[in-house]
Amino acid sequence: MLVFLLLGTGVLLKFVYQPFPDKAYESILYLQKDVLFGRLIRNIHHWSANALILVAFLHLLRVFFTGAFHAPRQFNWVIGSGLFLLILLSNFTGYLLPWDQLAFWAITICTGMLEYIPGIGLWVQKLIQGGPEVGQGTLSNFYAVHTAILPALLLILMPFHFWRIRKAGGLVIPRTPGQSFEVRGQSVPTIPNLLLREIVVALVLFALVLVFSMFFNAPLGDKANPGLSPNPTKAPWYFMGIQEMLLHFHPLFALFIIPVLMLFALLALPYINFQVNTAGVWFASTKGRGMALIAGLAALMGAPLAILADEYLIEVAARLPTIPTWLTNGLVPLALLLAAIAVFYVFIKRKYAASNAEAVQMVFVLLLVAFLVLTVTGIWFRGTGMKLVWPWNTGTPG
Ligand code: HEM
Ligand code: HEM
Repeated sequence: MLVFLLLGTGVLLKFVYQPFPDKAYESILYLQKDVLFGRLIRNIHHWSANALILVAFLHLLRVFFTGAFHAPRQFNWVIGSGLFLLILLSNFTGYLLPWDQLAFWAITICTGMLEYIPGIGLWVQKLIQGGPEVGQGTLSNFYAVHTAILPALLLILMPFHFWRIRKAGGLVIPRTPGQSFEVRGQSVPTIPNLLLREIVVALVLFALVLVFSMFFNAPLGDKANPGLSPNPTKAPWYFMGIQEMLLHFHPLFALFIIPVLMLFALLALPYINFQVNTAGVWFASTKGRGMALIAGLAALMGAPLAILADEYLIEVAARLPTIPTWLTNGLVPLALLLAAIAVFYVFIKRKYAASNAEAVQMVFVLLLVAFLVLTVTGIWFRGTGMKLVWPWNTGTPG
C-alpha cells in the first residue's frame, strides 16, 4: 500500500517539480502554495516514504524472529534484502530533490563519504555526483534514478517476492516451541479470505497516512546555499547509525568495511547451518527467548557505555602522534569488538548448551540493538560540532 501511494503521489509530483538547482526549491514552494492539494500530495509522499522504511524493517524483524528465512524461503530473504536496499536508495535519492539546506548538506556529506571506498571511491563519487561536487549533475542523476530506475526495479522485484511466497506454499505457519510442522489448521481459499483482510489493512493504513499528512507537514528548510553549511550537518535519519559509527571508527572501517560485512551477513544469513529449522516459532525456542533478551539487555547497556568511553578516554589515546589512526581507530577497536562478540557467543552458547539457531539469533539481537543505540545517539544526542548533548537540556545555567 505504501509503495503504491508513493508511486501515485510521485507521478503527481512530477507534473510540478523541476529538477534544476535554480528552480527545484521554487517549484516545491509553488506546489505547496498554489497547487490544489499540492502540499497534501507532498506530505503523503514524504510520510509514506519514511513509514516504508519502518514497516519494511519491522517486516524484516518479523521474518527473522519467526525463522521464516529457512528452506524453502532462503532466496526470498535475499530478494527481500534487495527490496530493503531499493527502499533506502529511493529515500536517499528523494531526499535531495527539494533542494533545501537540509537536502543539500545531507547529500553532500553522504556522497563525500564515498571517497573512502578503496581504489574506486573517487570515481564512484564523481559518477554519482555527476561532477566534482553536488550540483546540477547530481540533481539530474538523482531525479532520473529516483523517478525511473528505482520504481522500475521495485515493480519487478515485488511481484517476484510475492510469487516466491506462493511457491513456498504461503507464509510459515505459527507453532509453539516443540509443536511439529505437521500441525496445520484447515486451509481456505486465498480469495476472498486473504484478499478481504489485506484490503481492510490497506484501507486503514491509507486512512492513517492521510490523517497524519493533513496535520503534519513535510519539512522544508531554506533554499540550498552551497556556501553556508549548517552545524551540525547530519545524514538522513536512517543513515545516522553509520554517521555515528564514523565518530568512533576510522572512515575506511565505519563507511566501508563494517557496512559491507553487515550487508554480507544479511544476505548470507539464510544459508548458515542452523542445526534446527525454527520456522514458525517466535524467537526459535523458549531458551532462544531468554537468550535474545540477555543479548538485547547487554547491547542496551554496553553500547552507550562504549560510546561514552570512546568519547572521553580512547579519543585521547587516538591523538597520540606516532600511531596511525587506521590502527588506533580502525583495526584495534574492530578486533576488540569482534573478540568481545566471539567471547560472548562462546560463553553463552556453552552456558545454555544452545543450538546454532539460538546462538546466531543472539548475536543478531546484540548487533541490532547496538546499531539502534548508535542511530538514536546520532539523531537525538549529537549537537553542534557533533558533540554529545542532552536533548532535554534547555538553556545554560547562569
Ligand atoms: C519507494 C518509492 C519512493 C520513495 C521511498 C520515495 C521517497 C521520496 C522522498 C523521501 C522524497 C523527498 C520528499 C520531501 O521530503 O520533500 C521524494 C521526493 C520526490 N519523489 Fe519520491 N519516492 C518514491 C517513489 C517516487 C516515484 C515513483 C516518483 C515519480 C515517478 C517520485 C517522485 C518524486 C518527486 C518528483 C519528488 C520531489 C518532490 C518533493 O521533494 O516533495 N518518487 N521521494
Ligand atoms: C518493499 C519491501 C517488501 C515488501 C512489499 C514485502 C512484502 C511481503 C509480503 C506481503 C509478504 C507476505 C506477508 C508477510 O509476511 O507479511 C512477505 C513475506 C516475506 N518477506 Fe517480504 N517484503 C518486503 C521486504 C522484505 C525484506 C526486507 C525481507 C528480508 C530481508 C523480506 C523477506 C520475506 C520473507 C522471507 C517472506 C516469507 C515469510 C513467511 O513465509 O512467513 N521481505 N513479504
